[in-house]
Amino acid sequence: MNSEFKKIAVIGSGTMGSGIALVLARAGIDVNIVDVEQKFLDLGVQSIENFLNSRIRKGKMNDQEVNILKKKIHPFLKLEDATRDIQLVIEAITEDEKSKKQLFEELEIHCDDQVIFATNTSAIKISELATATKRPDKFVGMHFFNPPALMNLVEVIRGDKTSDITIESIISLCKFLEKTPVLSKEAPGFIVNRLLWVFLNESYKLLENGIAERDHIDKAIKLGLNHPMGPFELSDYIGLDVVLEIGEYIKNQLGEQYEPASLLRKMVNDGKLGKKSGSGFYNY
Ligand code: CAA
Repeated sequence: MNSEFKKIAVIGSGTMGSGIALVLARAGIDVNIVDVEQKFLDLGVQSIENFLNSRIRKGKMNDQEVNILKKKIHPFLKLEDATRDIQLVIEAITEDEKSKKQLFEELEIHCDDQVIFATNTSAIKISELATATKRPDKFVGMHFFNPPALMNLVEVIRGDKTSDITIESIISLCKFLEKTPVLSKEAPGFIVNRLLWVFLNESYKLLENGIAERDHIDKAIKLGLNHPMGPFELSDYIGLDVVLEIGEYIKNQLGEQYEPASLLRKMVNDGKLGKKSGSGFYNY
């Protein structure tokens, strides 16, 4: 099986960007990974290298395989350099509508007309982001899940003007990457985060109303629903700030019944963001 995408630019080298870059490189696609500062870029590339080195230590990959894969990943600081000869951009920067639109305006200047623009947004309207470009027919949502290397799902989201050809190309790419695509229209949170938000937010309310303790809720969900993580473990893993951003967005779009639990707001205000900050619902 061949991919029509030989070289892809991934914008943003955080957890999602670097994870997506790894998935693409693993499938033999050249990846131009971009960030705004050298230190962020270094962190992203380092996280990929750490993972590959652990593959060698565990005897799951050999030196030669790792070297081939590393050569597929090309770090860049400038968009005009990173967008040369690419067929697709996957945007994975911070979940902020204004920043994303600014980025797409800039990409529009640098990219060839044929390049497809995909956004890894977890909730924001695709058509709204597409207004920053002159190619709404080639603009699509491509939402990976954390950690991208292990999670099989990609939500493919159609904006108002996304063409059938664009959707077909992205679905083929997902299959080429050995991911399972599902299609969604652009309702806030799409499929997974719309449901995930309600599930996580209710778990915070159970805790803050004293209905059950943290460990009992996590255990109940793991054993009762066969989830790999309970809601508090998962919230810490995703990052409570990210969860709150998703919740706020869904509430602003869909109404007060989606209002975030006060416990979540307080924890984010107190800097308890989960694993990345050293404490959240658990300490790390
Ligand atoms: N990248 C690449 N490989 C990884 C990895 C990563 N980040 N983390 C672990 N691995 C590898 C390990 O090296 C290990 O490899 P080997 O078995 O070959 O040695 C293998 O994966 C298993 O590692 P673990 O034993 O640590 O993994 P696990 O079995 O405990 O599973 C998990 C870890 C996949 C994260 C699992 O706990 C899980 O599925 N949790 C739920 C995750 C989830 O729900 N994610 C979605 C979040 S919501 C979202 O992403 C949407 C959004 O917009 C916010």
